[in-house]
Amino acid sequence: MSAAVVLGGSLVVTAVSDPTPAEALVPPGVYGATKPHMGWNSWFFYGKAISAKIIADQAAGMATPNANLPLNGSGRHKSLADLGYRNVGIDDGWGSGGGKGRDANGVFVPNAGFLTGAHTKAITLSNGTTVAARALNTMKDLTDYIHDLGLQAGMYTDTGATGCGGMDGSAGHEAQDVTTFADWGFDFLKLDHCGGMPSSYPTVRDNYKAWGSLMADAKTSAGVKHPMALDICQWGAASPDGPWMWGGAAGRSWRTGRDLSGNVGYGTTSNGGSTWVNWGQVNENFKLNDHPSNHAAGQYNDPDYLMIGPGFGNDPATGKQQTHGTSSTLYGLSPDEQQSYFGMWSIQGAPLVLATDLTDLTAASAAIIGNESVIGVAQDSANRQGEKVLDDGSVQVWSKRLSARGTRAVLLLNTSSSSKTHSFTTKDLGLDGTPAVQNLYTGQSLGTLSPTGSKPFTLAPHQSVMLKLTGATDQRPETLFVPTATGVSQKNWNGTSWSAWQTLALGTAGSTGPGTIKGEPAVVSTAGGTDVFVRGANDTLWTNTYKNGAWGNWSSFPGMVLTSSPTAASLGRDRIDVFARGTDGRMYQRTFQQTPGADDKPAYWYDVKWTTSSVAHAGPSTPTGSGTIVGAPAAVASLNRIDVFARGNDNALWQKSYVSGEWTGWTSRGGALASSPTAVSGGPGQIEVFAKLASTGNVGQLSWTAPGGWSSSWYDLGRASVGAPTAAQVGSRVNVYARATDNTLWQWYRIGDGPSGTWQQLDSTLQLTGSPAAAGHY
Ligand code: GLA
Repeated sequence: MSAAVVLGGSLVVTAVSDPTPAEALVPPGVYGATKPHMGWNSWFFYGKAISAKIIADQAAGMATPNANLPLNGSGRHKSLADLGYRNVGIDDGWGSGGGKGRDANGVFVPNAGFLTGAHTKAITLSNGTTVAARALNTMKDLTDYIHDLGLQAGMYTDTGATGCGGMDGSAGHEAQDVTTFADWGFDFLKLDHCGGMPSSYPTVRDNYKAWGSLMADAKTSAGVKHPMALDICQWGAASPDGPWMWGGAAGRSWRTGRDLSGNVGYGTTSNGGSTWVNWGQVNENFKLNDHPSNHAAGQYNDPDYLMIGPGFGNDPATGKQQTHGTSSTLYGLSPDEQQSYFGMWSIQGAPLVLATDLTDLTAASAAIIGNESVIGVAQDSANRQGEKVLDDGSVQVWSKRLSARGTRAVLLLNTSSSSKTHSFTTKDLGLDGTPAVQNLYTGQSLGTLSPTGSKPFTLAPHQSVMLKLTGATDQRPETLFVPTATGVSQKNWNGTSWSAWQTLALGTAGSTGPGTIKGEPAVVSTAGGTDVFVRGANDTLWTNTYKNGAWGNWSSFPGMVLTSSPTAASLGRDRIDVFARGTDGRMYQRTFQQTPGADDKPAYWYDVKWTTSSVAHAGPSTPTGSGTIVGAPAAVASLNRIDVFARGNDNALWQKSYVSGEWTGWTSRGGALASSPTAVSGGPGQIEVFAKLASTGNVGQLSWTAPGGWSSSWYDLGRASVGAPTAAQVGSRVNVYARATDNTLWQWYRIGDGPSGTWQQLDSTLQLTGSPAAAGHY
């Protein structure tokens, strides 16, 4: 927990430790959800051919003890609800189109076939409680039944005037429809986007945020508070500012890709009796869902529903895969593919929303979707999305940090169409020690993995294995750069010790590399490697990636002339934002965004490309100048935000923030700086800024926490610095590096919650010619 400690009156030091969900200062989602939701949705199995009776029967299937699931403590079989599947979602097809979807007062009405008065099933739950049958005459009858079963009920509408299936949407009726859904007793809403949005909203983000507020503040028409959760269905459009950048401020989840199948409605004769899904579609949505930076407690990337089980692609008569029309593509998923599908969704911490017929769950399907160890990975309370750490073009290795320290879930996935043998090491996962390894699909213990060993796995085409590694320790790697007369020296902390200094090759100026580095590099470090961005001899931006102990080739990004060192911010591999001062003295931003769908390449970095041109940010207006900044900006990323700091012409610290997809203006944070700032974050709602103070020439610190705001004044750390310091967060440790007045390298560090830090000379031989740069990751 962050602690604000008052030292000597007005000096405030903020201690930072590893964030855990319980400590997160950002509320866990607008709706208080702390785990990705699980449940069932009607779309892929039934299409628009739904009725309240069908929905009620599926709810009953979810809550009924299932002979294919294990016994509970009372000798009854568990139900799917007992495993966490509790959301019952109505999709398209409950209303009417052509303006007939509302009554004379404009209130939504279900279509004539939806409410038939048919009776629900009476069932006995796994805890022995009985739920009586009831007639379905109103929407409230349906939600009452779902609630009696211990489940939650979900509604469906569209932001536009007409929805995906031709049903009337909610455009212009937003508040009225939210009240109606509250009156009907619903708990959550899927909000589709086929009809676009009313022109009153400037952006899709504004449209969904407005809905999010309406849902969170919802009341019934009798004025009773009835908050409902929102699932955003906008398919991940508008990269790099897709719904993952702002969805957490509007809803609990957002779709990141298109529909997994365009063919829906098992049982209808028009499609041959089956909904088609194939491996390529599953793998594509898995790729598109890779946005770990914005996935956290209460806000989740959603790759679409789980088409696992009867009704999906296999010929209903033979159970065999089939082709469609003249296509030779096989539809339907093999048992290995179905198992991988569930493992992929779980390693990404995705909402687990079933699409199959829950009243007809086969033993084979139950073995996959009922595996409580795998579900436990998806639902882990650390709420981390798994990240891809290895990819040789055939086999991918995904690693998900679990809540217990030194613990990982690992998915090895063979995406190719031939059998492959693959292995990984503890280092690939950022672990030290000798963890115990368990196969979560089978429950089998696989012994231990030594620090120098690897475990090979042979995987059939599209097969995967999910492992759990326990009992290791987390590495806290860090990379440090210092400029010297002979170039740039680099050394790496591997969690235990520093490497020797090595020289970073800078290539031939303007052709194979930056040649020289002007100022200091910007460095970001994530599970995928360490990236540096530098201002080269020709004043343009260059970048290189350090991965598995080696640098790659330099890439150049011409077209923008830099007049300062760059700064870079990233929480994960899916997005890196780089900022620098341009020739007009203003701040410019470029965004690197992972390119979904283009990742069948060995080096993950190559999935990243520029997606926007430079965006100029008019600098702070100060008493001595307007619109410009002095020296290099500093950027830091934390959940749902990027904060940028710069020294204004008045020498004060200025801040500009990108919060949930929107930029604020510049705000002065005061002080008198004698260098560019540097900034770190120990987790959501925590920022520390360091800079050289004009008053003493020493390194100073200013801190912010979400509940406490900014510290009232700069805290003098008591050691002089030549030029700007640099700061890095490494696990629970904050390291600040400075070039001391004798040009040697000093480090100030603080571990965990301690109120103050310690200085130590880190190197007494190297003579620095500029400011250091460093980045760690946890
Ligand atoms: C869109 C959504 C689907 C489903 C259909 C209904 O395609 O992405 O999930 O809701 O609309 O028409």
